[in-house]
This record gives sequence, C-alpha cells and structure tokens, in this order.
Amino acid sequence: MRHAIPAGLDRHEAAVYSRLDPGQIPRHIAIIMDGNGRWARQRHLPRVAGHQAGVAAVRSTVETAARVGVGALTLYAFSAENWKRRPALETGFLMRLLRKYLKQEVPTLNRNNLRLEYIGRVHELPADVRERMAWAQAATAANTGMRLTLALNYGSRSELVDAFNAIVRKAASNGGIEHLRIDEDAIHEHLYTSHLPDPDLLVRTSGELRLSNFLLWQSAYAEIYVTETLWPDFRGVHLLEAVGEFQRRERRYGGIETVHHEDTKARRK
Ligand code: FPP
Repeated sequence: MRHAIPAGLDRHEAAVYSRLDPGQIPRHIAIIMDGNGRWARQRHLPRVAGHQAGVAAVRSTVETAARVGVGALTLYAFSAENWKRRPALETGFLMRLLRKYLKQEVPTLNRNNLRLEYIGRVHELPADVRERMAWAQAATAANTGMRLTLALNYGSRSELVDAFNAIVRKAASNGGIEHLRIDEDAIHEHLYTSHLPDPDLLVRTSGELRLSNFLLWQSAYAEIYVTETLWPDFRGVHLLEAVGEFQRRERRYGGIETVHHEDTKARRK
C-alpha cells in the first residue's frame, strides 16, 4: 500500500502509518490513560511525577491523532471516582497540572486546528480550574479540525443519570410526563457526547482489562485495544499501532459481512 504520509509524523510514526489504510482511520478514538502511578513507582518517584510525565504522552497522542485525520479524540483524564478516592494532595496536584496544561497547550491546539471540549460533572471542579477551562475552550472554539474532549470528573453511570433526569425534566416542562419518550435516540441526544459519533476504537494503557465507567453506552460497538505500555510512555506511534490493530479487525469483519465502522447502527442487528 503506497500513500502520502501526513506532514509532521516522525520516522517511526511514518513507518507505521505507511501500513495503514488512510480511508479507514477511526472517526472517534477514546483513551483510558492509565499507569501513571506505576510508571512513577518503577522509578522510585512520587505518584504525581507520573502524572507530570503523562502530559508529554497527551501532547504526542493529540498531535498525531490530529495529523492523521482522526475526527474526535476523547481522553479520560479524571474519573468521578478518582476524584473522591485519591488523597487531596494528589487531586490538588492534578488540578494544578490541568490548569498549567490548558495554558501552555492552547497555542499547540490552535496550530493543529483543534477544538477543545469537556465532558463530565465539570461544575463540581474548583472555580479557578473552570475559569481556565472556559478560557481554553473559547480560545479554540473557532477551529474546525479534530475535537479533543477531556473527560473530567466523568463517570458513565452519572452521565446516564443526568441524561435520564434531563429527559424527564424536558417532558415535565413540555406538556407533562405523558409526553415522556425514551428511546435510544432520546438517550443519545441527552448524553454529554450527543455531538460526537460513538467511539470506533477504545484504547486502554497499562494492561488493565476494564472499562472503568468510561463511555459505557457510547462504546457498545467499539473495538477495544489494551496495551501494556504505561501512559507516560505512550506516544503517537503507539496510537497508530492501535489503529493498525483496529483496521486488521475491521478487515476480518469485512471478510464475513459487509459491515464497517462508519455504520455502527448496522452492527446493532
Ligand atoms: C491514571 O494513572 C491517570 C490519571 C488518573 C490522571 C490522568 C492525567 C494525566 C495523564 C495528566 C495530564 C493530563 C491532562 C489532560 C492535563 P493512575 O494514577 O491511576 O496510575 P496507576 O493505576 O498506575 O496508579
């Protein structure tokens, strides 16, 4: 297969990309970034050093995804559960890291034409973090390229609870509960991700075989790819390897029936 290599890929990325089918790049990739703590422990460093090192992995992954034409990338940055269970010192560090990340990355996001958005119960985050989030979102809102979504204080079950409550509230203010209509489209429309296609590919780093309450509804038909690589060691080249595996699985599907990832509804049957 010979095709043009997108500008900006490094030598390793270009080698992996040259074996991909550019017509079958996933429209939406979701990533559970895991293993920061283990990465730090292996180096006898405090856990927060792993989170800090995770920023370089975010940067590389985001840029490579944008360069190869992924339409949407969603990163599980802080789960609602993490938020409650981790020591205050660690969550405080993560919040400071997020504020710093947002400030320093906006120029890179703009250079790559990326739109930054968020999902989760973000209203529960500290006010200074929310202010910085709103600033970064506004600063990238006019871009037309990849949608980068950070899941912050996110949990899939609480997202569904919020969606069902919104549906009921809407019916109540719209002629009463007898107007309640719940079907798959109504649920989809009230999820935080209503503007995004469902993920075609869900990546998890550091070897755990769990969804950890991430995009449960949306990932009903996603291909799941788990790598042993710890998040701070993950780079764009690893994302392209995941896309390669995704495409090999897609082709196997193609062999038995003509279903592919543009048509997730067909898979419901
Ligand atoms: C999981 O590792 C990772 C997190 C809870 C935080 C993710 C944060 C980053 C990657 C930092 C930067 C990101 C942004 C968007 C600023 P873990 O601590 O659960 O690892 P462990 O399972 O090895 O303990």
